[in-house]
Amino acid sequence: METELCVLSGTGADSAIFEKAGKIIKDGGLVAFPTETVYGLGGDALNAESSKKIYAAKGRPSDNPLIVHIAEMSALEPIVKSIPESAKLLADAFWPGPLTMIFNKSDMVPYSTTGGLDTVAVRMPDHKAALEFIRNSTGYIAAPSANRSGRPSPTLASHVMSDLDGRIEMVLDGGAVGIGVESTIVDLTGDVPMLLRPGYITPDMLGSIVGRIEIDPAIGGILPDGTHPKAPGMKYKHYAPQGELYIVSGEDGNVTAYINSAVAKGKESGELVGVIATEENRELYKDGVVRVVGSKADEETIARHLFAVLREFDDIGVTRIYSEELDTPRMGMAVMNRLLKAAAHRVIKV
Ligand code: TXA
Ligand code: MG
Repeated sequence: METELCVLSGTGADSAIFEKAGKIIKDGGLVAFPTETVYGLGGDALNAESSKKIYAAKGRPSDNPLIVHIAEMSALEPIVKSIPESAKLLADAFWPGPLTMIFNKSDMVPYSTTGGLDTVAVRMPDHKAALEFIRNSTGYIAAPSANRSGRPSPTLASHVMSDLDGRIEMVLDGGAVGIGVESTIVDLTGDVPMLLRPGYITPDMLGSIVGRIEIDPAIGGILPDGTHPKAPGMKYKHYAPQGELYIVSGEDGNVTAYINSAVAKGKESGELVGVIATEENRELYKDGVVRVVGSKADEETIARHLFAVLREFDDIGVTRIYSEELDTPRMGMAVMNRLLKAAAHRVIKV
């Protein structure tokens, strides 16, 4: 299949592109599109065959449910059993925006979209092109992140092309995304809202709207024996670069010293070693393929660039990567959740 790459101009001239994209969805095809978090791989959420195509294109296990993207609040009611009060409050506060809420699903949503679950994840993205695309389609876009399963989520259209070229009908190129990590997921089907995946919307922000929230213990990464994460996708290998990634944790001076000596050792044995650095420490690294992920003083920059840096190391072919710990106050929970997965939880304490 030929994948058409359409660059959006952000003007009225895009309407023909959205019309074409909408028709592809209505005909059961797939279109990747930008959102404020990461690029999504969209299909008609109400068409069981479209969801199957999404799993096939990504190479994703089909028990891993998809998020249904909507463009208006009125689209929510038909696809859920009921809308809890907490959901109304959270939607008022954070929709459109980087928050996904889990509801009990109505019969309208096929099980192939929800990975066989009786619940459905719903989100209204805060992105003009995403909303325009949804409105031009069937109004319900099932979309996981638009990467091949296991790879970092795409934050540029070029990332989508490198993973999915030839496997989907169209890619809408809206430039770089703003946030860079996937949406916060909160489950509203229990008595107390539960955070299943950390993101831009923090537990404090959720708590300020609904009072108490619980946090799925799986988010920390280490699960008590025999328990499973509530968001099925959280259990899979994710984001892993081809080079082995290690997180180095400790005082700044100790971290940079450890990484410098590890890079030197790697070099001696003929390895190409990558370093994930913050702006603040850049000058302290002496050797290796050093990439600045962002600045601790402006922590949103770290989230925005993390996945692109991981992909860049794959392109360069580094065989080993050391990263500073990126546990900044606000975005740190979301960033470290992804970084720990990418590192298969290899943390070196110095
Ligand atoms: O920011 C985002 O959320 C992006 C953009 C494209 O909107 N989408 C995204 O989708 O990250 P995906 O498929 O890569 O991640 C969806 C996560 C998975 O971990 C999945 O298991 C979980 O949401 N999920 C979906 N439906 C669920 C449900 N009914 N119950 C629990 N977890 C669910
Ligand atoms: Mg994903």
